[in-house]
Amino acid sequence: MVPKLLARFRKKPRELASGLLAENLPAHLAIIMDGNGRWANRRGLPRFAGHHAGMKRLRQVIRDCDELGIRCLTLYAFSTENWKRPADEVEYLMRLPAEFFATEIDELVDRGVRVRFIGDTAKLPPHTQEIVAKTLERTRNSQGMIVNFALNYGGRAEIIAAAKSFALEVAAGRASAEDLSEERFSELLSTCHLPDPDLVIRTSGELRMSNFLIWQAAYAELWFTDVLWPDFTRDVLIQALRDFQGRKRRFGGLK
Ligand code: IPE
Ligand code: IPE
Ligand code: MG
Repeated sequence: MVPKLLARFRKKPRELASGLLAENLPAHLAIIMDGNGRWANRRGLPRFAGHHAGMKRLRQVIRDCDELGIRCLTLYAFSTENWKRPADEVEYLMRLPAEFFATEIDELVDRGVRVRFIGDTAKLPPHTQEIVAKTLERTRNSQGMIVNFALNYGGRAEIIAAAKSFALEVAAGRASAEDLSEERFSELLSTCHLPDPDLVIRTSGELRMSNFLIWQAAYAELWFTDVLWPDFTRDVLIQALRDFQGRKRRFGGLK
């Protein structure tokens, strides 16, 4: 499925820096922003300082992605498993969106960025839900890059929610089990308006998905770096995109 939202971008490839080929950029880049805590530890700082530095880095990464011509960017910001962390760290993380958007929203709107969220945002503290709603409202008419925040997101929870909603359709007599296909199931996921990620980047040297887009990333290219998220630069991003452009994607076929 080619989402209508993205279709218009395909006609106007932007001019690219750094030897990247405009026609072979990931249509959807997803990033597991990991390593904030270790970044802080190494400096003798509290973990919070790492999250704050990670947030500052994010500003620049969004700009870089926009300027490089990435049309859709999904950022793993808080997982369904991150609630297991100490209450004060969770509390801090839940306040970061307000701080981030307070300083960024005008620039994001100017850039035409459309902000979206995936994950169970209804379970976030009310003050975080408020900023989610405000941000959606401020950018709802934007026509540029989609920046999708995964907030209280878990791939398994998302799949269960989709399975339940289909089961309810069947129970109500509006669908039958035979109607369920990969396409139909994809439409029940929170990413139904987005293409599948072509490239997933994970920072900090961990080599796992941690419950991120586990359905959608079935054929994503994976790229790992030891760089900690607060140290992630435009050069590292370009390196990831160059590697991506050198990959042979076969999707099970022969070329
Ligand atoms: C990623 O950094 C941010 C979140 C998961 C919210 P971490 O906080 O996981 O940093 P490390 O992995 O402990 O270094
Ligand atoms: C994944 O990082 C979640 C986010 C980046 C938001 P974690 O640090 O929570 O992952 P694990 O626990 O190392 O797998
Ligand atoms: Mg981590």
